[in-house]
Amino acid sequence: MSIASLALRDVTHRYSESGPAVLSDVTLRIEASETVALMGPSGSGKTTLLTILGLLIAPSGGVIELDGARLPHGGSSLARIRAERFGWVFQTANALPRRTALDNAALGLLVRGETRAGAREAAAAALDAVGVAGLAQKEARQLSGGELQRVCIARALAARPSFILADEPTGQLDHATTLDVTAALLRNRPEGTAVILATHDAEVARQCDRLIRVIDGHVEEAAP
Ligand SMILES: Nc1ncnc2c1ncn2[C@@H]1O[C@H](COP(=O)(O)OP(=O)(O)O)[C@@H](O)[C@H]1O
Ligand SMILES: [Mg+2]
Repeated sequence: MSIASLALRDVTHRYSESGPAVLSDVTLRIEASETVALMGPSGSGKTTLLTILGLLIAPSGGVIELDGARLPHGGSSLARIRAERFGWVFQTANALPRRTALDNAALGLLVRGETRAGAREAAAAALDAVGVAGLAQKEARQLSGGELQRVCIARALAARPSFILADEPTGQLDHATTLDVTAALLRNRPEGTAVILATHDAEVARQCDRLIRVIDGHVEEAAP
């Protein structure tokens, strides 16, 4: 595979035709291996930006380029690209409550068609990397918020996507756990994997290579 990159050019988004522009003329480029923090007030457009970067919604205008090639705004090829190239960590850990941590961490790979044995092996390694190997056989519903978020991070890491998108993944955790969980994500990412992380925590942003401020639908590069 060529070196990954993800770029937006003049991307604008409105949720309805007559509605306000939630993103205006957003141009940015993310390279393989980079870690990028998105910071901005609530309602400034961080989640919208992430969902466009992750190809979950099509922008109303502008261009998305993956590895330098322009993507269509819809169509069946996008589903495959989403599954193979992108991983997500959401604010509220979303795991199957009655499945084990190991099963949950293996899910991303199973969705991609990996064998059960291969998926379990990669999932076990990822759980180990983020410090919860000892919880592999516990059901997700038995875990604390911080533990569960580590399992979700392990699930994203195990699939070795090109881009991990994390939308305030530590929004529900205390500050110490936030820093721990963020480090688990950033330090254990596979070689080449970029992480784009929306956060309200300046200390989290300082752990990233880049900081992009999102203000009222506009983005500007800032010092992390
Ligand atoms: N599904 C939606 N439909 C209509 N408006 C939305 C939708 N999602 C978000 N918005 C609006 O878009 C703006 C940006 O929201 P969002 O991207 O969630 O910002 P942030 O993640 O920075 O809080 C807000 O004004 C919000 O109300
Ligand atoms: Mg948001």
